[in-house]
Amino acid sequence: MALWSGRFEEGAAPVTQAFGASLPVDKALYKQDIAGSRAHAQMLAAQGIISEEDAEAIRAGLAAIERDIDAGAFTFDIADEDIHMAIEAELTRRIGEPGARLHTGRSRNDQVATDTRLAAKALAKRLMQANLGLRHALLEAAERAGDTVLPGMTHLQHAQPVLFAHHLLAYAWMLARDFTRLHAAFDAADASPLGAAALAGTTYPLDRRLTAQLLGFTGVVENSLDAVSDRDFLLDLEYACSVAAVHLSRLSEEIVLWSSQEFGFITLSDAYSTGSSIMPQKKNPDFAELIRGKCGRVVGDLVQLLVTMKGLPLAYNKDMQEDKEGALDAARTLEQCLAVMTGMVGTWTVNADRMRASMARGHLAATDVADYLAKRGMPFREAHAVVGHLVLEAERSGCDISELPLETFQAANELFGADIAGAFDLDAIVAARTTEGGTAPAAVAEQLRRAQARYLVDENAVKLLSPVVEMGAAGAA
Ligand code: ARG
Repeated sequence: MALWSGRFEEGAAPVTQAFGASLPVDKALYKQDIAGSRAHAQMLAAQGIISEEDAEAIRAGLAAIERDIDAGAFTFDIADEDIHMAIEAELTRRIGEPGARLHTGRSRNDQVATDTRLAAKALAKRLMQANLGLRHALLEAAERAGDTVLPGMTHLQHAQPVLFAHHLLAYAWMLARDFTRLHAAFDAADASPLGAAALAGTTYPLDRRLTAQLLGFTGVVENSLDAVSDRDFLLDLEYACSVAAVHLSRLSEEIVLWSSQEFGFITLSDAYSTGSSIMPQKKNPDFAELIRGKCGRVVGDLVQLLVTMKGLPLAYNKDMQEDKEGALDAARTLEQCLAVMTGMVGTWTVNADRMRASMARGHLAATDVADYLAKRGMPFREAHAVVGHLVLEAERSGCDISELPLETFQAANELFGADIAGAFDLDAIVAARTTEGGTAPAAVAEQLRRAQARYLVDENAVKLLSPVVEMGAAGAA
C-alpha cells in the first residue's frame, strides 16, 4: 500500500507501478533527500511542532538509513514509487511513530524541488571543477606550444598563419564562458523551496529560513507556487551543459582532423586512442569522436525538459517527474567528456614540423602581399585584385604564391620590389598581427596571462560557493 492510499478502495493497476515510479532515477538523490528530511525535522523541533525526542529519533534513523545506502546494503522497492517515500517508509518501519511525524507541514512537491535543487548545486559545482581541469590542461598546452605556427583556417581552407597557442587559447576562453554559465545555473538552484508544502504554504509555524540555512541555501524561493513548479534551474544547468558539450564537440572535430594522416598536426597518446579489430595499423581517435557524439545526447536532454515544461499549468504536475533523468544524464555525460578531454589534451604530441610543412600550400601570405601594395599607396580593393591574379597564376603553375619569381610580381605591378620576399616569411606574418587579441607572440603572451588570471578568479569562485550536499556514490547505480 502506498503512503497515499487512504482515500482509495482499490489498489493501482499493476501496469502503473513501474510506469509511475521515479525511484530508479531519483534514488541517486538519496543524500539530498535525507539532508532535506534531517533539516526539516530539526526545524520542526526548533519550532515546537514535534518533540526534541522525535527529532532525535528521526535524525538517528535517517543516519542509519544513509549509512546502509552508502554501503549498498539497502534494498529499494519499486512499490515505494520514489526516493521520498522509500526513505520515509523505511524510517517509519525502523523507528515507528516519530517517523510518521516527519512529513508534518511538508509535501513531496516541495521535497522533490528541494532535493533536485540540492542535486543541481552539487552537479554544477562538480562541472565547474571539471571545467577548471580542462582549462588548466589547455593553458599548459598553450604555454608549451611556444611559437609553434599552424595554418589558421576559415571554411576549413588555409587562411592566415596563427600561433598554435592562440588557437588553443580560443578554447580556453570558450570554457571560461562555460564556467560563467555553470555558475549561473548553480545560483539559479541556490534557494530553498522547502516550506511551500503542496503549493500554498502550510498552517504550521515553519521557519523556512532555518531549513534553508541548514541545507546551505543562500535564500528561500519567494512564492510557494513558484517554489514547487519551477524547474528553470535544471534548464539553466542543461543549457550550460549543452553549450559546453558543443564546445567540446568542436574541439573533438579538430582533434579528429589534426590526428588524421592528411593533417598529422598532433599524435594522440596510446592511452587516448583505440585500435581496430581487423586493421592492425589503425590508431583511431575514438574518444574525440565519442565526445562529439555525446554532445547530441546532452542537447537532447535540454530539449526534452524544455518540451516537458511547456504548457504545464501551475503548480506541480506529474510530468515534472521527467525532469531528473535528463539533468543527471547531461551533467554526468559532460563531466566524463571534460575528464577525457583533459587527458587527451594533456598527453598528445604536437607535430610542429607537420604544421610548418603544411603551410607551404594555400597561399597563406596572400593577405600580406596585398597589404604590401596597400602600404605603398594602392587602395586595398585594387591590391586584393592584383594579388588575386597572382594567386591564379600560381595555381596554374602548381605552386604557392611565395614561389612565383620576382619578375611575375613586377609584371603584375610596378610597386613590387625585391623586398616582397619579406612578405612571405610566415613567422613575420604572425609577428605583425600585434592587435590586442591578435596572434603575434607578444599579444598571445599577454592573452595567456589574462586567461591564467581568469582561471585563478574562477578557481577562487568555486571556493566561495554556498555549501552543497554531494551526490551519493551508491544508489546512483
Ligand atoms: N516522484 C515525484 C517527482 O519526481 C515526486 C513528487 C510527486 N508529487 C506528487 N504529488 N505526485 O516529481
